[in-house]
Amino acid sequence: MSAGEGESDPRRRILYGRSRGKALRAGHARLVAENLPRLEFEPGASDLRTLFPFAPREFWLEVGFGAGEHLIDQAKANPDVGLIGCEPFLNGVAVALAGIEREQLTNVRLRRGDAQALIEAAPDGFFSRIFILYPDPWPKRRHNRRRIISEQMVEALARIVKPGGEVRFATDIDDYAGWTLARFLPSPMFRWIATGAADWRTHWPQWRPTRYEEKAHKAGRASVYLTFVRL
Ligand SMILES: C[S@@+](CC[C@H](N)C(=O)[O-])C[C@H]1O[C@@H](n2cnc3c(N)ncnc32)[C@H](O)[C@@H]1O
Repeated sequence: MSAGEGESDPRRRILYGRSRGKALRAGHARLVAENLPRLEFEPGASDLRTLFPFAPREFWLEVGFGAGEHLIDQAKANPDVGLIGCEPFLNGVAVALAGIEREQLTNVRLRRGDAQALIEAAPDGFFSRIFILYPDPWPKRRHNRRRIISEQMVEALARIVKPGGEVRFATDIDDYAGWTLARFLPSPMFRWIATGAADWRTHWPQWRPTRYEEKAHKAGRASVYLTFVRL
């Protein structure tokens, strides 16, 4: 484990995983060159409240949106909500840009990079909903601490989610569901709203399966859906 990697280090800023894959197709390269600069922002330098060309009813964040299918679907279904998507993997960002253009969405802004800086820069109580869907599982024990959910992350999320707002977490890895519960349940700032197994076995209403969910279900792995309400 490298210095600063541990869950105990709140300044952790190391990005694990890929930020780029195979060369972009010409259409995607054009979207990255022409549209991304218009939709991207720099956490800390931009005022998140004025990112959109209208005053959104609420702000929602999707951390690690992959290829953006869920982000685009939510944006389409909730045109009065400002959606911010954060994803370091350029090829995924390019696919999301294609969706934004195809659907002519004006309520999506993107941050290409690590979610940590964005979370640190967000104002208190800014987000009404945060999605963390199928985060990288880091299944090997020695890599567990690379998981995006940590005690510090729960604290950071508690600061930026407004009371009554929600963190929605999904995984197909049982061990990661347990890991996440072990970090949210002790927090006095969140309440897990499940009352029975149906709550964590059933996806949220108006749900577009993500690419990883589709892969997981095809491989026979079930999903766990956890909703944490900010108190
Ligand atoms: C297993 S994939 C899931 C993608 C998508 N949510 C889905 O369900 O299809 C995890 C995603 O999280 C992204 N990711 C990893 N570390 C991240 C970080 N620190 N901040 C934001 N996204 C991150 C990865 O690039 C990857 O796209």
